[in-house]
Amino acid sequence: MSTLAVYPGSFDPLTNGHVDIITRGATLFDRIIVSVLVNAEKTPLFTIDERVEILQAVFKDQPNVEVDTFDGLLVDYMERRRADVIVRGLRAVSDFELEFQMALMNRRLNSKIQTVFMMPAEQYTYISSRLIKEVFTLGGRVHGLVPAMVETRLRQKVSAKRS
Ligand code: PNS
Repeated sequence: MSTLAVYPGSFDPLTNGHVDIITRGATLFDRIIVSVLVNAEKTPLFTIDERVEILQAVFKDQPNVEVDTFDGLLVDYMERRRADVIVRGLRAVSDFELEFQMALMNRRLNSKIQTVFMMPAEQYTYISSRLIKEVFTLGGRVHGLVPAMVETRLRQKVSAKRS
């Protein structure tokens, strides 16, 4: 029996913390689908297509990593994809409360689906997409915290906004 995991999220933008969790998940599960939530935020920095394109480029050499999108309830998407496990990253105690609520709500909605929490490498425990956007937009360095492609795309976004 093979285990199919889903790593859902906004990925606006993808950070090295996400990359770390996906890479760990790909060693633990037979296949992992990284699925981008459509319509989460009204004003995202990157469009869904851009986020998918970045994920596909970053994981192009990992055959058991698939990139997809979803909307609606995560458990319904899990059912459609016949997936067994939801993967979520836990960076710090502050993540725990919301993650705990989501995991138990998802279990209530579908008791067959398990949520597995994974911890990223220590150097990524303080990174979030929100902080990356804020720091970069205000002129700070995010080198080493996001994949190179994300850094390039951030630069393009910010210069396009300024012109
Ligand atoms: O990267 P994020 O923003 O922390 O991801 C949050 C996500 C996408 C996992 C969560 O918002 C989600 O699952 N949304 C789908 C709607 C849903 O199923 N809501 C009930 C979950 S308890």
